[in-house]
Amino acid sequence: MTTPVASLSQDELKTLVGQAALKYVVAGSIVGVGTGSTVNKFIDELATIKDQIPGAVSSSVASTERLKALGIKVFDANEVDSLAVYIDGADEIDGKGHMVKGGGAALTREKIVAALAERFVCIADESKRVDVLGNFPLPVEVIPMAAAQIARRFEAMGGNAQIRMKDGGPLVTDNGQHILDVRNLKIADPLAFESDVNQWPGVVTVGVFAHQKAAVCLLGTAQGVQTLE
Ligand code: 5RP
Repeated sequence: MTTPVASLSQDELKTLVGQAALKYVVAGSIVGVGTGSTVNKFIDELATIKDQIPGAVSSSVASTERLKALGIKVFDANEVDSLAVYIDGADEIDGKGHMVKGGGAALTREKIVAALAERFVCIADESKRVDVLGNFPLPVEVIPMAAAQIARRFEAMGGNAQIRMKDGGPLVTDNGQHILDVRNLKIADPLAFESDVNQWPGVVTVGVFAHQKAAVCLLGTAQGVQTLE
């Protein structure tokens, strides 16, 4: 079901899906919150109903700071047994709800919080919708001493892996690790790929979310918000 809208910028599409995600928040329940520019829109909307929820479990330092600044209580993931819903963006999403995530380097905590949730609601603008995952460089969080050998394994698969840099040095994640961004992959079987790479020594988290795919995707399009289930 779509609602026609005038031509909107990518930022406006993110606002639209951030707003649309509010209806998936369960009153009285702690909500799982992802990371990124689209989620920031959702967090701003969440602040308008903060009195209806106990708070949130956050997937990054950045989201935690934004939630707290808006007066939303942040719970440690260890304090909750389960979440009704986890709301997060994606760098790519295919027709089955499989995603590539980690453009904001928060993939490990995102997977941890998503694993607590009964339902993953993905919010994204239409540029993120793909048929086959792999156009976006695949983020992989790695233990630094294993980075070169993991990069070689990707190269043997035809990929090209580079350490993500920031301020002249390797980017350090919220978990104190590094990120490899892997180009030139076509991830035809996301479930098998995720299972395989997860086994490699030194891989903390691979940015394919297939085992924890989106149950719902709210996609911001020129025609309005499309709900893909
Ligand atoms: C962060 C993520 C984000 O969800 C993903 O990068 C999308 O971000 P944005 O909404 O800014 O496009 O996985 O690690």
